[in-house]
Amino acid sequence: MIEPVYQPSPTRYDGGMQYRRAGRSGVLLPALSLGLWHNFGSRQTFSAVRGMAHYAFDRGIVHFDLANNYGPEYGTAEENFGRLMETSFRPYRDELFISTKAGYDMWPGPYGNWGSRKYLMASLDQSLRRMRLDYVDVFYSHRCDPETPLEETLQALVDIVRSGKALYAGLSRYPLEAARFAFDYLAARDVRCLLFQDRCNLLDRGPVASGVLDLAVAAGSGFVAFSPLAQGLLTGRYLEGIPAGSRMSEDRTLHRDVLTPEMSARLRALNDLARQRGQTLAEMSLAWLLRDGRVTSVIIGASSAAQIGENLRALRNTSFTDEECARLDALTLG
Ligand SMILES: NC(=O)c1ccc[n+]([C@@H]2O[C@H](COP(=O)([O-])OP(=O)(O)OC[C@H]3O[C@@H](n4cnc5c(N)ncnc54)[C@H](OP(=O)(O)O)[C@@H]3O)[C@@H](O)[C@H]2O)c1
Repeated sequence: MIEPVYQPSPTRYDGGMQYRRAGRSGVLLPALSLGLWHNFGSRQTFSAVRGMAHYAFDRGIVHFDLANNYGPEYGTAEENFGRLMETSFRPYRDELFISTKAGYDMWPGPYGNWGSRKYLMASLDQSLRRMRLDYVDVFYSHRCDPETPLEETLQALVDIVRSGKALYAGLSRYPLEAARFAFDYLAARDVRCLLFQDRCNLLDRGPVASGVLDLAVAAGSGFVAFSPLAQGLLTGRYLEGIPAGSRMSEDRTLHRDVLTPEMSARLRALNDLARQRGQTLAEMSLAWLLRDGRVTSVIIGASSAAQIGENLRALRNTSFTDEECARLDALTLG
């Protein structure tokens, strides 16, 4: 069957999406971005992948976050994205902000992991081929490699930006002192870190507690929060147990043993608070992150367009009273 040519919604920028500035830069990102870590690889049908991507773009989600090994299987989220470029998104390339990363295991042998120049350079070339792109908007060092001199990893980012294969450099999950060194190293070479990416959600406030969020902001970098829903825990998904087909049911990156009776009770209490605010638990969890002006964008994952739709409704109310914040702290900290 011949698919009709994709026509994005003409009202894609009029539906309430907010765009926030990434640090001290010229780049605006949507408050919600879409990550392709799970559910966009070869285990999904391409029509499911395409359905979610179109749904997002049609509603102003112009930032898609990838990495070399997203799928599963490794590489296949990028391959599917490349297919999307060919079949739908090519005419809209300049409306899209696309990131990829290297830093975790990707191919066998000594050159397919961590932070060497050898790995980063080769991996980006592979990513561009899979995604059928000439350049990405951001290329991230996916994690700090304690065995490779930081200068080597960072200089690879600088050279990648100077080569034009990425417009900007990004850092993901760097600990505080390594991040400080990296921000300075990159700025001294006029290739500022555009985006610092870290896990942040109601249940895991690591970047706030460590000070790396403040450091990123002071360095002029944008901050993007990943796993804002704690991989689905902070939604209605697990209020009645573990549904078939859910991420927790796979017990791979979200483990079943997280759902203790104590955690279930917390989630129910959070859900009650969300309901009092007129939101779902997912909406409140995203709104709570977005209430913080230091957060440039929140990168959600999804397994359906309906989930993306629910998550977009978070934008309708991102303010919290002091009392609500105090109740959330009491329910989630400690
Ligand atoms: N830099 C890094 O090291 C790093 C690490 C992790 C993630 N990331 C990035 O961040 C992105 C998001 O991470 P994440 O997928 O963990 O984010 P998340 O938004 O915390 O979790 C997404 C999952 O939550 C569930 N979900 C989402 N919306 C829902 C809703 N409204 N109702 C019920 N369930 C809902 C879905 O699970 P089901 O599949 O069960 O439906 C979905 O797959 C990734 O794709 C990636 O781009 C980066």
